[in-house]
Amino acid sequence: MNLRFTEEQDMMRQMVREFAQNEIAPVVEHMDRTDEFPRQILNKMGQLGLMGIPIPEDWGGSGADFISYIIAIHELSKVSATVGVILSVHTSVGTNPILYFGNEEQKQHYIPKLASGQYLGAFALTEPQAGSDAGSIRTRAVKEGDYYVLDGNKMFITNAKEADIYITFAVTDPDKGKKGITAFIVEKDTPGLVIGKKEKKMGLNGSDTSEVIFEGAKVPVRNRLGEEGMGFTIAMANLDVGRIGIAAQSLGIAEAALELAREYAASRKQFGQPIGQQQGIAFKLADMATQVEAAKLFTYRAAHLHQNGERCGRESSMAKMFASDTAMKVTTEALQIFGGYGYTKEYPLERLFRDAKVTQIYEGTNQILRLVIAKHLLS
Ligand code: CAA
Repeated sequence: MNLRFTEEQDMMRQMVREFAQNEIAPVVEHMDRTDEFPRQILNKMGQLGLMGIPIPEDWGGSGADFISYIIAIHELSKVSATVGVILSVHTSVGTNPILYFGNEEQKQHYIPKLASGQYLGAFALTEPQAGSDAGSIRTRAVKEGDYYVLDGNKMFITNAKEADIYITFAVTDPDKGKKGITAFIVEKDTPGLVIGKKEKKMGLNGSDTSEVIFEGAKVPVRNRLGEEGMGFTIAMANLDVGRIGIAAQSLGIAEAALELAREYAASRKQFGQPIGQQQGIAFKLADMATQVEAAKLFTYRAAHLHQNGERCGRESSMAKMFASDTAMKVTTEALQIFGGYGYTKEYPLERLFRDAKVTQIYEGTNQILRLVIAKHLLS
């Protein structure tokens, strides 16, 4: 794997870094405090082509490579993990399923709108009793003439209130287990689609996490994604790729915390010298930097595989698991280095610490990802 980036990839990093500093940094504290969705920021990202980075130009995207997309999530998340996750969910699991599994008509109708940021995408898989065991979803889709009628509850859906379409998974044949699950593109104005309770979360404030409820929602047959029974495979295949985005988000959080801790350890003096000169703090910084570097290698390695059209389920699981564990460890240690100041809202560390936690949970808990990795090892 070549870990030198191309000129285009370096330009993407520079552009996103400047955008994040100029447009997002000034409102991060406000977003965290008010839980306000960053609609204006997303509009600007749409104008810059950031809402469809890896989508081919023919479909209205920026036509950049997958690594450039991962660079964008990485850089955005250094400043705001909230904006990072919105982009990751929108692209990896909100748009890509249509690009990879949609028919010509579906691609023409939806991809340009999603890639330009006119539409925001969401992914409705999880249900109250079906989180890690995604194959046990109960939302039903019954075919009636030209429609499927959907009934059921989805929860923890990122972007739910704000999305224009939901890649939705429902059971079309209960006798077939996972092979009876089908995917649909459901539009927000579908009669019978109701947005339920918005979760009050520990972190990632500004990103919307809500219930999506289907009460006899009529979805046209033309909005079925792939064939009946393909839904579980579509979900799993897109989560393989989505997990690289979450790894990049975790990496951004960890790097931001490391940089704050490094600066603080170099300037804060106790016992007549910078605290970074104390071995206890120096060792912490060395471990944190090593873990961040390893997480970076894992993340870009998985991205490189996907970019070259190779299966990456094992590597994306390793990347997401390692990078998110790193985000949690590094934010914890960085907060410790800041001492009492780290525990206050005067400094961004407590936000980074709160934001890091969910990366170990969503898009596959790190325990489920260990099972995925073990399955690859043993098969
Ligand atoms: N790609 C393609 N097909 C796959 C696949 C993959 N990565 N993984 C499994 N499949 C196929 C298998 O080949 C199998 O097909 P066959 O029967 O034809 O062989 C079928 O799917 C069933 O596979 P398993 O028997 O392995 O399925 P399982 O029930 O044991 O579950 C699991 C596997 C990995 C635990 C899965 O349920 C899983 O990933 N759970 C976690 C769910 C998850 O990540 N949810 C995230 C929600 S979205 C989110 O969080 C987004 C957000 O908002 C940030």
